[in-house]
Amino acid sequence: MIRILVGNGKGGVGKSTIATGLAAALAARRRVTALADADRQRSSLGWLERRPASAAPIRALDWTRKLGAVPPGVERLVVDAPANLDGSEIEDLLDESDLVVVPVQPSLFDQAGTERFLGKLGKQKSVRKGRKAVVLVLNRLRPRARATVRLDAYARSLELPVAARLADRAIYEELAAQGLAVFDLAGARTAPARAEWAQLVDLLDGSA
Ligand SMILES: Nc1ncnc2c1ncn2[C@@H]1O[C@H](COP(=O)(O)OP(=O)(O)O)[C@@H](O)[C@H]1O
Ligand SMILES: [Mg+2]
Repeated sequence: MIRILVGNGKGGVGKSTIATGLAAALAARRRVTALADADRQRSSLGWLERRPASAAPIRALDWTRKLGAVPPGVERLVVDAPANLDGSEIEDLLDESDLVVVPVQPSLFDQAGTERFLGKLGKQKSVRKGRKAVVLVLNRLRPRARATVRLDAYARSLELPVAARLADRAIYEELAAQGLAVFDLAGARTAPARAEWAQLVDLLDGSA
């Protein structure tokens, strides 16, 4: 089993969008996938409740009160982390993860929240020793926007791998309202978005 933590100290950066999207992508590849929601806002659990029975199945795990057990047979666990984690909460979630995906948005305020989160991560021995990978997802990019150029420079300064660059697209919210993600719909409307996730999904699907 590979356990993927999607986290950032800041709210609204796309944690739930990326956690639900990754779970849908892995489920579409026929991985036995569970999505654990550790955020009291329950965005991922709500999304799973809205998810149609015909869509690729994803197990729901409610971790909003405490972290629980993962059912046997699960191949990929995606954890939607809450914002504003304190030190011990981060430690608990990190203990339960093999890889950390950090969504970042092109705003200076987000960079401050991200830095605090990465600072806390950097204190973890498993991260420092390179046993636990940390990758960035640059989210809500607008082509040719100054903020995008700035975010690229910022990501380079962090010296962490950028696993995906996701454009700002209305389709994410539209599909999330139906418990769906871009991986649930084949066709030209979702293809450009899916292409932007491909490298990240390959990484999480392929690493044994
Ligand atoms: N790439 C994107 N394009 C357009 N809207 C996005 C994108 N990523 C996230 N959003 C929207 O931004 C809002 C916050 O995203 P969400 O995933 O809930 O963030 P978090 O879980 O970090 O608080 C949601 O309304 C979501 O639909
Ligand atoms: Mg959320």
